[in-house]
Amino acid sequence: MQVLNTLLQDFSSELSKVQKVADLLNLKSKYIGKQGPLSDVMKNLKDATPEERKTIGAKANEVKGAIEELVSKKMLELEVQEINENLAKDKIDISLTDAVLEKGLQAAGYHPVTIIQKEIEDIFISMGFEVLDGPHIEDDYHNFEALNIPDTHPARDMQDTFWFADKKHLLRTHTSTIQVRGMKTRKPPFRFVGPGKVFRCERTDASHEMVFHQLEGMMVGEDVSVGNLIYFMKTLLTEIFKREVEVRLRPGFFPFVEPGFELDIKCLICGGKGCSVCKQVGWVELLPCGMVHPNVLRHGGIDPEKNSGFAFGLGLDRLVMMRYGIDDIRHLHGADLRFNSQFKSF
Ligand code: FA5
Repeated sequence: MQVLNTLLQDFSSELSKVQKVADLLNLKSKYIGKQGPLSDVMKNLKDATPEERKTIGAKANEVKGAIEELVSKKMLELEVQEINENLAKDKIDISLTDAVLEKGLQAAGYHPVTIIQKEIEDIFISMGFEVLDGPHIEDDYHNFEALNIPDTHPARDMQDTFWFADKKHLLRTHTSTIQVRGMKTRKPPFRFVGPGKVFRCERTDASHEMVFHQLEGMMVGEDVSVGNLIYFMKTLLTEIFKREVEVRLRPGFFPFVEPGFELDIKCLICGGKGCSVCKQVGWVELLPCGMVHPNVLRHGGIDPEKNSGFAFGLGLDRLVMMRYGIDDIRHLHGADLRFNSQFKSF
């Protein structure tokens, strides 16, 4: 009985120091396990009188029950504590704190193509143009047919196309698709630009990518002439480069314009001496353009007898290269933060 009387007290005082589940289990087995004092008491009961056996047995059960209850209570406490500790340690912060935001913004900025695109949009908006958008996935009609490029026309080979399995849909090869959509939803006179991504199944090199950007432009009305076209192209380039740049206009063939021109810019990477960007010719093909072909106007629901128009398709990535002196187009899509973080605003 003496052992039993102090057992619960001793257990309780040791219990108050326990901090871990494993220590609690050890303590439990120390007191009420097979080798513990309670077991000794039970084993020795055989030597006691029947009367003693009764009182000592009852007391032993009472102490065991009390210890078991204390153990379960403590166990729950420790488990909750451990869960909370683990939660605090492995905490995932799903909120975007100010610090993260600030650090992120220091590294972030607009992509140079976006910077130039926004600038050009602003220039054209200031001259009364709308900015239109169009889908990346197009059909044969909008990418070719309506642009006077019928099936089997060799001009289709000039734009290596990513076709969908149905052979009817494709990833647009140029932003001229926006011309078609813009014409059908407007009545002359109108003027708009349409920037966006285009896709061609091409081998990449310093000036060619498979995914690149163009900015389409179109102006239709009575008496729109080549003079208007040249004026808008010159204004665009002067605004973008903020200085006189040397350009040359040469005849160019596109089935959707007649006459068609290629506006080249003297290579600003090598100053015209010849490099990998200009393919050693000193000039970079930047801005094909021309007077809209009557067939294209007809497809757009416009009477070519009453109206005329010009259109152009600016290569945005190459313009970015000229503006910033970037010697390989692949830098633009390499997703290298050391490159991208040099361009922060527009
Ligand atoms: C066209 O895509 C015509 N739709 C442009 C046009 C519009 C002509 C309206 C007349 C009237 P072209 O295939 O040449 O044309 O491409 C236009 C510009 O996109 C090129 O001058 C060049 O700057 C750019 N470009 C073409 N292919 C690539 C390429 N693989 N990677 C990067 N830029 C390219």
